[in-house]
This record gives sequence, structure tokens and C-alpha cells, in this order.
Amino acid sequence: MCGIIGVVGGGSLAKQLTDGLRRLEYRGYDSAGIVITLPGGEMQRMRAANGKNSLADLESESQSLASADILSGIGHTRWATHGGPTLPNAHPHYDCSERLAVIQNGIVENFAELKGQLIERGHSFTSETDTEVISHLLEEEMNTGITLLEAVKIASHRMRGAMSFVAISLDAPGVLIGFKRMAPMILGTNGKQWFIASDIPAILDQASTFYHLEDDSVVSVSKDGVEVFAEDGTRAEMTEFIVDWTLESAEKAGFEDFMSKEIFEQPAALRDTLAGRLRSSGEIELDETSISNDALARINKVFIVACGTSYHAGMVAKYAIEHWTKMPVELDISSEFRYRDPVVDERTLVVAVSQSGETLDTLAALHEAKNLGAQTIAVCNVVGSSMARLADSVLYTRAGPEVGVAATKTHTAQIGALLLLALKLSRIKGQLYPNEIDDIYHELVEIPGKIEEVLEKWDFIRSVAQVFSERDRFYFIGRHVGFPVALEGALKLKEISYLPAEGYPAGELKHGPIAMLDKNAVVIAMASKTRLFEKIVSNIEEVRARDSAVIVIGNHGSESIIKEGEYFIEVPQVHPLLAPLVDVVPLQIFAYHMARIHGEDVDRPRNLAKTVTVE
Ligand code: M6R
Repeated sequence: MCGIIGVVGGGSLAKQLTDGLRRLEYRGYDSAGIVITLPGGEMQRMRAANGKNSLADLESESQSLASADILSGIGHTRWATHGGPTLPNAHPHYDCSERLAVIQNGIVENFAELKGQLIERGHSFTSETDTEVISHLLEEEMNTGITLLEAVKIASHRMRGAMSFVAISLDAPGVLIGFKRMAPMILGTNGKQWFIASDIPAILDQASTFYHLEDDSVVSVSKDGVEVFAEDGTRAEMTEFIVDWTLESAEKAGFEDFMSKEIFEQPAALRDTLAGRLRSSGEIELDETSISNDALARINKVFIVACGTSYHAGMVAKYAIEHWTKMPVELDISSEFRYRDPVVDERTLVVAVSQSGETLDTLAALHEAKNLGAQTIAVCNVVGSSMARLADSVLYTRAGPEVGVAATKTHTAQIGALLLLALKLSRIKGQLYPNEIDDIYHELVEIPGKIEEVLEKWDFIRSVAQVFSERDRFYFIGRHVGFPVALEGALKLKEISYLPAEGYPAGELKHGPIAMLDKNAVVIAMASKTRLFEKIVSNIEEVRARDSAVIVIGNHGSESIIKEGEYFIEVPQVHPLLAPLVDVVPLQIFAYHMARIHGEDVDRPRNLAKTVTVE
């Protein structure tokens, strides 16, 4: 997804802009660009559209500005949505006069209609992007004699969609104007300069104080400070927030890549997520809540909405919440939820699960849930993210920044947080006694140590991946909570190694997928000791009879279920509902090694973005 940075306050801003964009690399990009203003009324634009080399190209071109005295600048990394990843489509985008430039993250949904009207009125366009519409709309407003700030206030009402953008004009070169609507945008300052950014890492080492903006805010930023305006044009407030992430924590810390670092950070991430959340009364604390326990007691149904890996965490939660609360739990992919008339009312608790808290499909589902009158909780990793601020309550996963596109530590942290929520609901519903909650909580806080045991199998799992590295199809099977683990294992493998991989409920094999099994297929079976253990052993027999290779993820004492030529990866035995926290780890490691063996870039898989802020 697109990354945004803007700086005002003078100095060698070009490097600050490109450095900030570097730290947004994890959002994915296919082109990059900056615009800077110089004293004397000059605006300079530099852009590169060379895939993952775009930033390097931009850095070398902008060297020429190293000693320039720059008043202000904006920078952008683009992940193509409207128009291909070409140089004309790279941001920033000028108006006709080339005195004004805009960068955007999001989509102007009515851009085609607006563009048609602008062309009729004589504007000429140089790109296929929706963003260029913003530049021309602002130009048109400013031609009536108003300032860029006033133009943004007016033009923002003419555009539909989730977007944040920053505009800069030669009419007031020391001022940046930003607009935020359902796409991330924060402000920061170091006392001398002010920054606008789409994400914290962009300005983490440059700013010391950080601020959130409400949706539909217009903000004017100059070296002297900031003015914020609400949708109706009146003055509004911004909210300061504390960032306790260090730059170092966003770097690789000696690992070859972010994904391996983040896999190894899982014990710490889960410990942090669980820490101090249980009161001696058996009560579990949410971070920020406006839902009383009385309101939660009236809930008669839970609805979980999420995408991708977060959806798989939500799936684990469904099993736990239903088992521990006896309440029905529905689970939806966020992009399906909002378009299918979900049965939701004020007695429904909608739980939005999202690492970023910005995924547009989930954010929109959360909006829909609120419109339908539901009580809402966001489970997210990014403090102060859009979902965290929109939901009635928040339960933060305290996993720290996750840079690898493939979610790992945030996934296990999500499961941990959701299990806490399940325990909380169960206590409120009177289905578990405080001492039962206490017992499960204490088993839960032992899990990080169990994950450490799995991490010790790193090299062994690499050797298993090596054995099967030439196979072309992988099937992950599991039952009960082993099923979402199987889905997650398949997602990890396909997203970073590009190998065909599917996850199935093991009992479903015989209803179709078994037709795909032959001597070229590899089946990875989740076989932890649960009451369904014998059934999964039977499923493994079905696989064996089709000559497919077998890898079993199982507990101590189950090694005998494998036959010659098969592989057994041992994981510690834990409470069945907590098992996904442990069992998913060998699958992450397997996917990681397989991708590395195939020479793939595990941190930046092709076609993927860390945070998907478009529909
Ligand atoms: O930020 P979110 O958790 O809302 O992101 C949802 C998905 O895009 C995400 O989980 C994606 O599937 C993972 N990057 C896959 O590893």
C-alpha cells in the first residue's frame, strides 16, 4: 500500500524524505517520488518507477539536493491501484500549472466522474491515477483566489472513498495541507520540523512527539505549528500519543530478514500480549473500553470479522468462545460481511481482528457493525490505529512492529489476545469459574516457553523442507483447531514460496481433495493429541494409500504413527484450545525455509502488501 511522508521546517529535507520512505518499504511499492520546494518559488519533482529498485533510484537522484536549502517536501511510495506501475503514474502529481503537487494513499472512488468534468473544463491529465484528480480539483478551487487550505476543505467534500492525501503549493511553500478519511495519517514534530506520515516508522527516528488525527480532518502544517479542522470547517483537536517502539526494534537485529526475526520474537510478543491482563478476581482487562460488563452480559452472539492470517486467528477464537461461553460465534471474511446483510443487532458483539488496524475491508466491516448497532471490539497491534479508535473497546496485541509481509508474531499474539477475550466473556456469562479461568490463564502464560522449544527445531525443519523442496503441491490437514492452523500453514507457504498449497479439514479430504493426492503431493498433518487424534491418524492412512509424502506435526509419544520415509516434527502437548499457538510455529518455519531454498525474498513477497488499505 502507498506510503506517505511530508516534512516542513527547513534543512536537508530530501534525505529525510527518502529515509522515511525506506522505512515504509514494508508497505510494498512499485514506484516512488518526492517533491520539494526551494526558496525563490521553485518546485522540484523526482520520481522513479523501477519496481523494488525505485527507492534506490530516487535516493541516488536526490543526492543532487543534499546541500539544498529546502523549505518543505512530500514523498510517496506507490502500490499501483489506478493505472499501472509506470513513471507517469508515480506520485507526486501536479496540477496543470505545476505549482501544486499531491500524494495520496487510498482511492478516490468517484475519480472517473470528476476527471471527466475536469477535462470538460479544460484540465489536461498526464497520468491514469485517481490522485491526479485531487491536484486538478485543488487547482480549480485555488483559481478562485482561495488558499490551498480552503481549497482542500472544499475539494474533500467532492471526493468519495477512503483516502489520505498531502498537498503542497508554491503559493505558500512552507505549508503542507493534509486530509484524512479512513486511511492512516499521523503527525509528528521534533520541535523544529513537523511531519505528516501514513505510518509511525516513517518518522520514528525524526520526530519525538506524535499525534493522531480524526477522520475527515484537514490539517495545515508549517514550521510554526499545526492547525486542525473538522469536517464542518471548525477548529478541531489532535491527540498526542506515545510511541514506545524504538528504531532498533524495527530493524533486523542480526537476523537475515524480518520474517525470521519476527518468528523468533513470538515468545516475547505473546508474553507481552498476555502480561498483567488477569486480575485476581478472574476479571480480564481490555485496554480501552466503553463497553461495560453489564452490556457484555447482554450479548447473545459474537461475530468475528478479519482478513487473511487475522481471519485464521479469528477462527481459533470461534472454537474457544463457543466452547467457553456457549454463545454462537459467526466468523466472516471482512469483505464478505459488509455486503451480505449479516444478522447483527445491539446484542451482538462484533470483534474486528487486524494486525494493522487499517485493513480497509475490516475497517469497513467495523463501520457496518456499528451502523447496525452492535457492540464492537478491535483486536489490533497498532496503537491508535483507525480500528482501535473506531471500536467501542480495544484489546491490543503487544507484538511490536511487524515488518515482514507474512504475519507471524502478530498471528500468535492475536490468538493469545482472542483467547483472553474468550475467557473474559466466559466469566461474564458465568460459564467458567474464576479458578478455571485462572488455570487456563496460567497454562496460557506457559505457552511462550513451549514456543521456544519449537524454535529449537529450526534447523531440523529446514532439513525437512530441503527434502521436499522439489515437490509441487502441498496439502495441510487438521481437525478442530488444527483446521485453522492448517489454513494458516498453507497461506504462509503460498504467500512467500509461491508453491500451490491448500488447507483442509482432514475429514473433508474424502469429499474431493483426495482426488489430488498422488506421489508428487506432500501432506502436512496436524496431529496433536486431542480427542480427535485417532481420526487424524485414519486420515493420514488415507493419504499414505495414495502414495503422497507425509509430514506429521505431533506431540511426544506419537512418533510411531509415521512410517519409513515420513517426517515427524514434535511440538509440546498443551491444552487443546491453546495448541494453535504452538502448532502453527513449525509451519511458519517450514514456509520460511522453503521460500529461502527457492531463493525468494521472504520479507517482500511479490504482489503482496503488508497493509491493504484499498477494497
Ligand atoms: O493488518 P491485518 O491483520 O488486517 O491484515 C490482514 C491480512 O492482509 C493479513 O493478515 C495477511 O493475510 C498477512 N500478511 C498474511 O501473512
